[in-house]
Amino acid sequence: MERIAIYPGSFDPVTNGHLDIVERGLKIFDKIIVTILHNPAKTTLFNVSERLEMLRTSIEKFPNAEIDSFNGLLVDYVVQRKAHAILRGMRAVSDFEFEFQMALMNRRLNREIQTVFLMTGLRWIFTSSSIIKEASRFGGDISDMVPPIVHQKLNEKFGFTR
Ligand code: PNS
Repeated sequence: MERIAIYPGSFDPVTNGHLDIVERGLKIFDKIIVTILHNPAKTTLFNVSERLEMLRTSIEKFPNAEIDSFNGLLVDYVVQRKAHAILRGMRAVSDFEFEFQMALMNRRLNREIQTVFLMTGLRWIFTSSSIIKEASRFGGDISDMVPPIVHQKLNEKFGFTR
């Protein structure tokens, strides 16, 4: 049986921290589907097609990873894609409560699906899409925290010509 995991998130935009999770997740799973899902708690900077484009370019180096987007409940999508696991990265303690809540809710909704957490690499512990967007908006150099396509798109979005 092929071991497929769904790696869900807002990916607004994808960061090197996310890519680190994909790379390490592929040592556990045969295939990872990186899927953009709607997080009702967030308003996004990039629309779904912009986020998909950045993801597509960033993960093309991983032959066993693919991308997708879905509007609905994560557990329904996991079943639809015949996957058995949800992959999530965990950074600091501050991530824990939200992740714990989400994993328990998903387990309540479907007990056949397991959530697997990977600890973010130390290098990416302070990296988040939100903090990257904020730094980039005001001209901060975030080029070593995101894939080149994301750096370019952030500059375009905020009107920089670096
Ligand atoms: O990158 P994020 O914003 O932390 O990811 C959160 C996300 C998108 C994975 C979460 O909000 C989600 O799963 N949304 C889809 C709706 C759903 O199934 N929610 C969880 C059970 S209530």
